[in-house]
Amino acid sequence: MQSVVIEQPGLLAIQQRPLPQPAANEVRVKVKFAGICGSDVHIYHGHNPFARYPRVIGHEFFGVIDQVGSDVAPQRIGERVSVDPVVSCGHCYPCSIGRPNVCTELQVIGVHRDGGFSDYACAPARNAYRIPDSISDRHAAMVEPFTIAANITAHLQPNAADIALVYGAGPMGLTVIQTLKGVYGVKQVIVTDRIKERLEMAQENGADWTFNNAEASLPAELERRGIRPTLIVDAACHPAILQEAINLASPAARIGIMGFSGDACTVTQHSITSKELSIFSSRLNSARFPQVIEWMASGKIDPQKLITHCVPAAEVEQAMLMFEKDQRTCCKVLLQFD
Ligand code: NAI
Ligand code: MN
Ligand code: ZN
Repeated sequence: MQSVVIEQPGLLAIQQRPLPQPAANEVRVKVKFAGICGSDVHIYHGHNPFARYPRVIGHEFFGVIDQVGSDVAPQRIGERVSVDPVVSCGHCYPCSIGRPNVCTELQVIGVHRDGGFSDYACAPARNAYRIPDSISDRHAAMVEPFTIAANITAHLQPNAADIALVYGAGPMGLTVIQTLKGVYGVKQVIVTDRIKERLEMAQENGADWTFNNAEASLPAELERRGIRPTLIVDAACHPAILQEAINLASPAARIGIMGFSGDACTVTQHSITSKELSIFSSRLNSARFPQVIEWMASGKIDPQKLITHCVPAAEVEQAMLMFEKDQRTCCKVLLQFD
């Protein structure tokens, strides 16, 4: 089989590898589609502190089970599945309270262990979620990115009366916008980004109004309109954003962050406590695949609105460079394996 391998930072190769055999409690998936994510590009460049090399990347993928290990029902062969990349131990403290995404022995498929940019990939059987026939193969590859939005919104508990502000209209911001509107029915979703084309995508994905904060001051505009957001999501993840979000937030607002920057960001206790703000962080997803599959099947979210490109897996290197360099035209880029 062919696999996309980052041999060392900066060096990508398509390698011929032997077909992997599923271990006990594992399935082997014949991969059909896989999405390119910013974190794949980070592993490629050596900017992911968790990655070990050589590594088969890819953690957003869909395929068909073609082999099962011992202790897995052979009836699962032929099942269409999306794979949850979060592999957890099941018995540590976070696992015991339903938060396997921060398991003390967390292994992320495509980061800590070999992933889905490959003709075949093995995964624990319980990480392979059956996809109903009504969801297409391409859309099924989009379940994982929506689980990130499902996870952060589960912390934030949006409601229809919220005035939401989303920073960043990349893939993460767009899945958050769709979830806020389509799942939670949030009345007003405001989106800010620095790129005009991305704001247009935000609008197509349900934003009520958008604001280019490279051209003018967002705090001034919100003040002019008399708006104090009650729910804020930072899906841009620049360290400077948190203090601005805290300042803009309504008293009793909730703020969600998902950045991994190692740079310090300065916030004051006064600005948080005086308004009794709640600040949540969110990492990956804690068993949110079934929920997202249901949202997709019932049309509450529409993955098609994020997919801008689909290319053969052999073109992975050009596709990753395009994804990285061309934020104006690229959102989600899918690789097709065959
Ligand atoms: P992206 O880079 O495609 O999108 C970020 C967007 O934010 C861009 O459109 C950019 O123009 C905009 N932006 C940058 N600075 C801004 C500012 N000061 N104000 C307004 N907009 C600004 O990235 P993507 O894939 O959408 O991911 C967003 C972030 O989410 C990344 O930092 C990524 O590391 C993080 N992430 C976190 C996850 C988690 O589980 N916690 C999972 C996936 C991504
Ligand atoms: Mn991803
Ligand atoms: Zn654990």
